[in-house]
Amino acid sequence: MDTVVPPSRRVLVDCVHSATAAPSLHNSQPWRFRIRSGRIDVYADPDRRLPVLDPQGRELMISVGAAVLNLRLALREAGYLNDLQLFPEPGVVARVTATHPEPVSDELAALAEAIPHRHTNRLPFAHLAVPEKVLDKLRDAAHAEGAVLAVATPEGRDAILRLAGTADRVLRARPGYTTELARWTGDPRHDGVPIWAAGPWDALEAVPIRDFAQLSGEPRKRERFEPYPTILVLATHGDDRLAWVRAGQALQRVLLTATWHGVASTPIGQPVEVPEIRRRLLDPASGLSVQMVLRIGYGRMAGRTPRRPVTDVLTRQ
Ligand SMILES: Cc1cc2nc3c(=O)[nH]c(=O)nc-3n(C[C@H](O)[C@H](O)[C@H](O)COP(=O)(O)O)c2cc1C
Repeated sequence: MDTVVPPSRRVLVDCVHSATAAPSLHNSQPWRFRIRSGRIDVYADPDRRLPVLDPQGRELMISVGAAVLNLRLALREAGYLNDLQLFPEPGVVARVTATHPEPVSDELAALAEAIPHRHTNRLPFAHLAVPEKVLDKLRDAAHAEGAVLAVATPEGRDAILRLAGTADRVLRARPGYTTELARWTGDPRHDGVPIWAAGPWDALEAVPIRDFAQLSGEPRKRERFEPYPTILVLATHGDDRLAWVRAGQALQRVLLTATWHGVASTPIGQPVEVPEIRRRLLDPASGLSVQMVLRIGYGRMAGRTPRRPVTDVLTRQ
């Protein structure tokens, strides 16, 4: 019988480092990891949930799911097939176990290499359509993780942008919104959204990018955003914690596939954070639950936001 040598702790720590590059709501990084021989357990950190925007912890689980996808890809890039169990025991969101050594495929290697280059881009995009071939790859990426990605039609896009604008106003009026935003914006060292990442304000106010610089007191630059943004809707069958972790993995696979093809992206979470508006984003007959709206396109480079050091997110044995 072959003896399988599990990856060293060093390799697994590097994989956790890749996991922490995942996107998360307001860069809250609501995750923790524990390394055991040949496996990594992933936990949600409830102290990093945003109770005003995310009372159910849906976006917390999406963020953790995005980190799980990075973890799986990093292990594949390190040369290990791996097995994923979701909610294997109380308190553990995901258990990723290295099984057998096997060379990584070109596609998964490309996705793993995209991890450090994926950034949320809140800048205006060029007036350029995303080719159908790339949109197909994004749909396939969501499908590979058990989710559905729909590209909005022109009428759908206009309706979604209007709903997102309304949702943004509803959220700003929610009690506690400003206090929560203040906790996660400013000039953070290891988490939260820095002011420089907020981007300019859309001069035509048509693209409702979340305003992370609202409390900065600095004058906002106005720029014209693309008049016809490409809008995607990510949805799942089911709407429980399992579906949310799947949605997070699908979201990250879509974002990394976009990065690989030189396509920039902005999650637009507001319309999904207001239940009455969320229900109006897709035809109820589809039986699907919307988990995220995305804007994609071609733009100037966005920068890298801070992350907590790996030692802060690793739980000792
Ligand atoms: C569940 C979720 C919701 C998000 N919602 C928004 C949003 O509404 N607007 C936005 O600009 N970015 C949104 N983001 C992106 C995060 O703000 C971003 O991932 C985080 O600040 C870290 O920056 P990075 O993506 O550049 O690494 C969201 C990300 C996740 C995972």
